Amino acid sequence: MGLKERINTNSIIKRVVHRILIPKGQAMPRWFVNALINPFFHKKMRKAKVRLSVRKDLFPFNKFLLGKQSVVESYSTLNNGVGDIVIGENTRVGISNVIIGPVMIGNNCILAQNVVISGLNHGYENPDVSIKDQKVKTKPIVIEDDCWIGANVTVAAGVTIGKHSVVGAGSTVTKSIPPYHVAVGNPAKLIKKYDIEKKEWIKYEGQHHHCELSCTKASGGVSEEHKGKCEMHL
Ligand SMILES: CC(C)(COP(=O)(O)OP(=O)(O)OC[C@H]1O[C@@H](n2cnc3c(N)ncnc32)[C@H](O)[C@@H]1OP(=O)(O)O)[C@@H](O)C(=O)NCCC(=O)NCCS
Repeated sequence: MGLKERINTNSIIKRVVHRILIPKGQAMPRWFVNALINPFFHKKMRKAKVRLSVRKDLFPFNKFLLGKQSVVESYSTLNNGVGDIVIGENTRVGISNVIIGPVMIGNNCILAQNVVISGLNHGYENPDVSIKDQKVKTKPIVIEDDCWIGANVTVAAGVTIGKHSVVGAGSTVTKSIPPYHVAVGNPAKLIKKYDIEKKEWIKYEGQHHHCELSCTKASGGVSEEHKGKCEMHL
């Protein structure tokens, strides 16, 4: 049994280790965690940069990987307390982003300013317990290669943004976006897609290519068969 498993399976040791790494009720680890421990567990590849002002709520028990030539810009926050953060190569995490794992971001992505990507949700279901004291839930967020996420976007837990897709500024993404699409708004809706045959970006007419069923009646009256297959209508 590895060290991590041993700590995880013994609740007393787990609590002690946790308290050594982080003061009670806080999200930020003690100073020595980033300075002395994390470098042995986390990987920053060649020419990858995390700017000095970035707040690093990073813990050795989860992954933090920053690929070759990727940059996390100033005033951003990285938090892997409840899930891994894995960022590919040549990706730019813009100024003042907040990334809370589990989050996986591919290669060559651009995240503009003030983007919030959180794979964590607070449990709220029990009305008798303060939300603050309910268990958190996690669902990984995946941003595939070559995406551009506009300024002030929020991405909800469990969402996948497909390769080379664009999310317009100010959008809130609550459902997955297929590859080669543009989505905007709150909640984000598809407005354009890349037509492989025409070799151009065309207006999105409600044909969800990944379910191969037309849904021109996207605003209602969608068949049960369609609902069962089409991610946008699940
Ligand atoms: C999405 C975006 C890339 C535009 O893409 P585009 O393909 O040129 O889209 P268009 O300008 O043709 O707009 C298409 C429609 O979407 C709407 N739209 C565009 N961006 C939108 C946004 N962010 N939110 C809501 N609606 C938006 C347009 O008003 C237009 O609506 P209409 O068809 O009713 O007229 C751009 O608007 C955007 O949001 N860019 C992000 C900018 C940013 O964050 N920069 C930070 C530096 S990296």
